[in-house]
Amino acid sequence: MYPPDILLRKKALKKDKINVILFRAFLLTFYRDDMSKIYAVITGVGSYVPNYRLTNEELSTMVETSDEWIIKRIGIKERRILKAEEGRGVSWLATKAVEDLKSRHNFDPLSVDAVVFATSTPDYLLPCSAALTAAQTGMTRAFGFDLEAACSGFIYALEVAESFIVSGKYKKVMVIAGDVLSTVTDYEDRNTCPIFGDGCGCALLEATTEPIGIMDSVLYSDGSSPEYLHMYGGGSVNPSSHETINNRLHYIWQDGKVVFKHAISNMVSACEELIKRNNLSRDQIHWIVPHQANMRIIDLVADRLEIPIEKVMINIDKYGNTSAGTIPICLWEWEPRLHKGDNLILTAFGAGFTWGATYLKWGYNLTNGSA
Ligand code: UT7
Repeated sequence: MYPPDILLRKKALKKDKINVILFRAFLLTFYRDDMSKIYAVITGVGSYVPNYRLTNEELSTMVETSDEWIIKRIGIKERRILKAEEGRGVSWLATKAVEDLKSRHNFDPLSVDAVVFATSTPDYLLPCSAALTAAQTGMTRAFGFDLEAACSGFIYALEVAESFIVSGKYKKVMVIAGDVLSTVTDYEDRNTCPIFGDGCGCALLEATTEPIGIMDSVLYSDGSSPEYLHMYGGGSVNPSSHETINNRLHYIWQDGKVVFKHAISNMVSACEELIKRNNLSRDQIHWIVPHQANMRIIDLVADRLEIPIEKVMINIDKYGNTSAGTIPICLWEWEPRLHKGDNLILTAFGAGFTWGATYLKWGYNLTNGSA
């Protein structure tokens, strides 16, 4: 038995403890967002496009087309092609992109926790290109994997990276996105070969408690109509054989008109959903960063969103459609003109179909070429 004064003190202590617990619960309930919310912000971008320029004139010697037709109907003047004498595989482009990021933004490759690589043209079916790139760039502490969502790959990979970071488990994630589409382009098919090019970009995402970086996203996929845009050879349905080669199944095939219509309506609806959900006025949007598939698609998306074309990042004339690479290559090219806090809407559409939009607040200003 305790004497009565000790019992009283114990009671008071217990009451104090309960009060502290209740106070903490109150703080967590009402101030949780302000106190502990983690955001994922892009702190640097890098890019690489191969040296060889495949011009419309040269394409006109390969298929029945013309510089005039391609510029008028697609808006491309030239695209870059990775020739074997320069390098091989998408991890080679990715390594160059990560080195570019490293040369302009101070970051330690060993500090990266994870590498998410969006590509439809990995070096090999296995091992994954993320692991190869991580080894080639010193990100040896990170785990890595590839993600395949065709032209929407970059915004899908951003979603994965952001989720890793806001979970609190990882602090730095390298998102890489790019393709070597020249390896799966049929240079005898004039419906596809003028469109595609090679290129790769990357973005480093870091955790912050500042309300900046990726603010929201909407992603969709619909696999009910693969017949409109596909590459049927080389997978587990049609493993590589003489027959798949003879039937040209290792090349991308598309029904351009159908894809064109879906691309416009789906990118517009995804952007509208995101803009509405975040109460953004058109004036508050600094940049739209669309997938670069066709200049007419970009024009129509901007028009339907009522965004002036001056606020739209466009470089399709120089690089064509590099699939997962288009959006990070745009961010890299516009990086010197971006300011901390700028509101960007990224939007993409690709095979699957896959599509969506990401709303992000830009995270830094470049001074003298570095952050
Ligand atoms: O990033 C993945 C998603 N992909 C896309 O978003 C691509 C979406 N689609 C497109 O960009 C366009 O549909 C294409 C660029 C593929 C085709 O442009 P189009 O204006 O839709 O052409 P079309 O298929 O309606 O063809 C119009 C005409 C046809 O001739 P006829 O039948 O009217 O005599 C085609 O044979 O243009 C002809 N044509 C060409 N002529 C010269 C098709 N391709 C070419 C060409 N050069 N390269």
